[in-house]
Amino acid sequence: MLNLTDNPIKYHNQHDLSIQTSNSKISLQGSLLIPGDKSISHRALMFGALAQGETRIENLLLGEDVISTANCWRSLGVNISDLSAPTVFVKGKGLGQLQEPLDILDAGNSGTTMRLMLGILAAQPNCLFTMTGDRSLRSRPMSRVIKPLVQMGAEIWGRQNDNFAPLAIKGNKLRPIHYHSPVASAQVKSCVLLAGLMSEGQTTITEPALSRDHSERMLKAFGADIKTDSTTNSVTITGGNNLQGQSIIVPGDISSAAFWLVAASIVPDSELVLTNVGVNPTRTGILDVLGKMGSDITLENQKIVAGEPIADLRVRSSPLLGCEIAGELTVRSIDEIPIIIVAAAFAKGTTTIKDAAELRVKECDRLKVMATQLSRMGAKITEYADGLEIQGGHPLSGAEVASHDDHRIAMSLAVAALQASETTVIKDAIAANISYPNFFDSLQQVCC
Ligand code: S3P
Repeated sequence: MLNLTDNPIKYHNQHDLSIQTSNSKISLQGSLLIPGDKSISHRALMFGALAQGETRIENLLLGEDVISTANCWRSLGVNISDLSAPTVFVKGKGLGQLQEPLDILDAGNSGTTMRLMLGILAAQPNCLFTMTGDRSLRSRPMSRVIKPLVQMGAEIWGRQNDNFAPLAIKGNKLRPIHYHSPVASAQVKSCVLLAGLMSEGQTTITEPALSRDHSERMLKAFGADIKTDSTTNSVTITGGNNLQGQSIIVPGDISSAAFWLVAASIVPDSELVLTNVGVNPTRTGILDVLGKMGSDITLENQKIVAGEPIADLRVRSSPLLGCEIAGELTVRSIDEIPIIIVAAAFAKGTTTIKDAAELRVKECDRLKVMATQLSRMGAKITEYADGLEIQGGHPLSGAEVASHDDHRIAMSLAVAALQASETTVIKDAIAANISYPNFFDSLQQVCC
């Protein structure tokens, strides 16, 4: 750790901070325990709430998105113990036993909370629910889940032709469907599967490319009758079977580890070990992309914990080369594209990112925001409808940049700042708390 006087990170107020490393040449060294996976943490709480009996969860992510999920379920009458304890206990209610909440359910910034919960709420007969979120979430499309739910018999109303929250949901008995999703989205897939779990018969969802499969794995572990067909990217669930409470150990989030993988790759003389990181193949696109770029990453201590593969990741700095990211590789690295853009800015040659239009409807328009913010620091980036072209190797210099209240943008810009000359001020860097509450403390810890 650096002396306080050498500390490259300075907090300006509760929201903004600056990073300046040019006076003190830094390297990144040490070992980091990566916080729990956000996708798996949401699902552990939700499936635990729907199961019969108790679910025990270790290493639950204590990020703001997961807190939003827990608060929604508490409003539905589910007993969830203190989220900050090492083990969190969920007393399941069983299918169809949820209580009609007295107030609006608030999903905060979390698309996963809203989209997955819609599949559950829509299937609770005789209950009325209202659901909203923060400014970002209220501008994210919900028709992608409302459309299949309406085909199943759901009644959901929202702003602008039932697309945007706040939403009103009148619970109904749903009927099974076979839905062909136009987007590869684990949120759409999980929403339909959860609605299918609560209707009688077989519900199938087919997606154009395989999105993360944590719901399939965890629903199976909870005892659901669920089958996957990898030849067609289809999943079928047979509804009506009760889930049984489980013990879950949440792996470290590879999407959070990604910031360190890029940081240690681009800051010379660095070596970091990231422990207990989830390496589910539907999430390891970042390893494949960095592999194509010439990074030095090794997987150690590989094992399966609670149905998910995990490993320690050792990363050493190495020169990076531009590459092309398209098709299923884009899907498998969808949340890591912002930090991949930073890697590309420091790589030799051109990086092309294609098939990434989904990034325009994340917590912010991540293609536009990364292009504009990194350009302020001197990066050469061209924006296309579904991607970016980055001419790497142009030196970056500090500037005032903004996270647009997007956690992954805040952390990506911080990593870029580590190798920029002069001082970078990151407005609303606090957004990192959504998925990585101690990110800046960890950054200070590994800066040598
Ligand atoms: C998530 C799925 C992804 C991802 C999001 C979390 C999930 O969204 O971007 O951060 O937990 O299911 P899409 O499924 O919409 O691509």
